[in-house]
Amino acid sequence: MDLFEYQARDLFEAAGVPVLPGIIADAPEEVAEAAEKLGTPVVVVKAQVKVGGRGKAGGVKVAKSPEEAAEVSKNIFGLDIKGHTVRRVMVAAGADIAEEYYFSVLLDRAERRYLAMCSLAGGMDIETIASEHPEQLVRFPIDPLTGLDETAAAAIVEQAGFAEADRAEVARVLVLLGKVYTDNDATLVEVNPLVKTGDGTIIALDGKVSLDNNASFRHDWSALVDNSRTDPLEQKAQELGLNYVKLDGDVGVIGNGAGLVMSTLDVVAQAGSGLPGSPKPANFLDIGGGASAQVMADGLGLILSDQAVKVVFVNVFGGITACSEVAAGIVGALGLLGDQATKPIVVRLDGNAVEEGRHILAEAAHPLVTIVDTMDGAAAKAAELASAAA
Ligand SMILES: Nc1ncnc2c1ncn2[C@@H]1O[C@H](COP(=O)(O)OP(=O)(O)OP(=O)(O)O)[C@@H](O)[C@H]1O
Ligand SMILES: [Mg+2]
Repeated sequence: MDLFEYQARDLFEAAGVPVLPGIIADAPEEVAEAAEKLGTPVVVVKAQVKVGGRGKAGGVKVAKSPEEAAEVSKNIFGLDIKGHTVRRVMVAAGADIAEEYYFSVLLDRAERRYLAMCSLAGGMDIETIASEHPEQLVRFPIDPLTGLDETAAAAIVEQAGFAEADRAEVARVLVLLGKVYTDNDATLVEVNPLVKTGDGTIIALDGKVSLDNNASFRHDWSALVDNSRTDPLEQKAQELGLNYVKLDGDVGVIGNGAGLVMSTLDVVAQAGSGLPGSPKPANFLDIGGGASAQVMADGLGLILSDQAVKVVFVNVFGGITACSEVAAGIVGALGLLGDQATKPIVVRLDGNAVEEGRHILAEAAHPLVTIVDTMDGAAAKAAELASAAA
């Protein structure tokens, strides 16, 4: 999960990382109030979107009074930054910047450790630093067992070439940022820019933090979750624990195993491409290995509640979970759903215990269910039904 800058700022502050005061605002009047409250001669109004390049897109503006802050914010609210609409800004105290540096620590999966990166050439994005000033970018591997300790921090600031007088304080801040990284189970903590002010203070002026969703069970991140961009069906799927992604077509897809579901999306798109209305997959849904009747019911129920769906294609390859169990799951699910099941369902079963599975479906003879033996044949049938319903 990626955090907004203001959320990263809060984590930094809680860990003792020096940051500037910042107040969030959702409308120009609130911006003026926030600037008033900060009381600094200069404030900076910053778009809160989870994407880089805000500054270049006009999402970061300086103001010298609360009125001016409210005024500049009018051009920031509603701004589209790489597909993200600005609905919230942070009003931050203005810093007297003398120097801008770059620092990040991230998960290096390939090397199975962390990687810290640091440069005196801050302010620009990391790709630019890496391509234009590669000699100025320090890459420092961190052993996850020791973390970013004093020794590592001292080595990083020395290799990066910080002035003697700044090294101790920068190293202290890096250790604290390393603590933010480990204590929060982050996969990325990036500060760009880390600045030195006119009076020599080191401050994290911008923050980008990604948290590892796999560690969510040991944190309470509920307050950090942003539902404003989540599709309602995807949200429902998340509550049900389903692996679902909404797409923009009309053939609902359920399968077991991400690879099979991905290829199902392809064959459905292929089958639909020549037909009137060119039916396309409406979603990705992987019900995984041991799909019980309840999981099948949840999945079918979710897909049938999608207004865009005209037909459902269930494509299952029996492995550890036998087709007979899946078939019983489908029959059970249709029983659970009752009148809610109103759209045609094309089922293709293959693999372990396929004969028993097909037999169970044939026996149940549900009027909405069509059994097709091959994946291509079933995709063609589903596309045809969706095209006819268009
Ligand atoms: N509180 C502040 N006081 C003074 N200047 C600031 C402040 N916050 C940001 N800036 C200036 O604005 C620039 C961009 O801000 P920031 O890094 O937070 O946004 P960004 O999304 O990373 O934008 P970009 O990708 O263009 O750098 C900073 O490099 C800094 O020069
Ligand atoms: Mg930045």
